[in-house]
Amino acid sequence: MVPAIRELFDAALAVQANAHVPYSRFPVGAAVRTASGRVFAGCNVENAAFPEGICAEASAIAAMVSAGAREIVEVLTVADGDGVTTCCGGCRQKLREFAGPDVPVHAAGPEGARATFTVAELLPTSFGPEHLR
Ligand code: THU
Repeated sequence: MVPAIRELFDAALAVQANAHVPYSRFPVGAAVRTASGRVFAGCNVENAAFPEGICAEASAIAAMVSAGAREIVEVLTVADGDGVTTCCGGCRQKLREFAGPDVPVHAAGPEGARATFTVAELLPTSFGPEHLR
């Protein structure tokens, strides 16, 4: 694993262990790298009122914005199970707010990254902040 991905993977894997998932039993970790090189991570946080749960990507983005950062240059998510677990539709839109179309989004399993997509591949022809300017 290249060092850049390793850093994101390690951060995402560490927070995945803190996921609050009593309902789905599906812990997810996410890490984002900012333009200045800082890494922020988040896990999914579920709720007894099911729709109130938040995804790992949303947690990582909230941590980033809370710290004053705004520009994402790389993303990694980690989930258990077989196959490639990619970001849900809502999270694709949330990432798109802070990440350009060419930003890589790595989908990892417990052993490392399994696939990489760009933000534009995950959310083509998307709506974003520039449409409101
Ligand atoms: N989940 C994430 O945190 N990120 C994703 O990209 C996919 C799904 C969470 C939401 C919920 O807590 C659990 O995984 C099952 O859907």
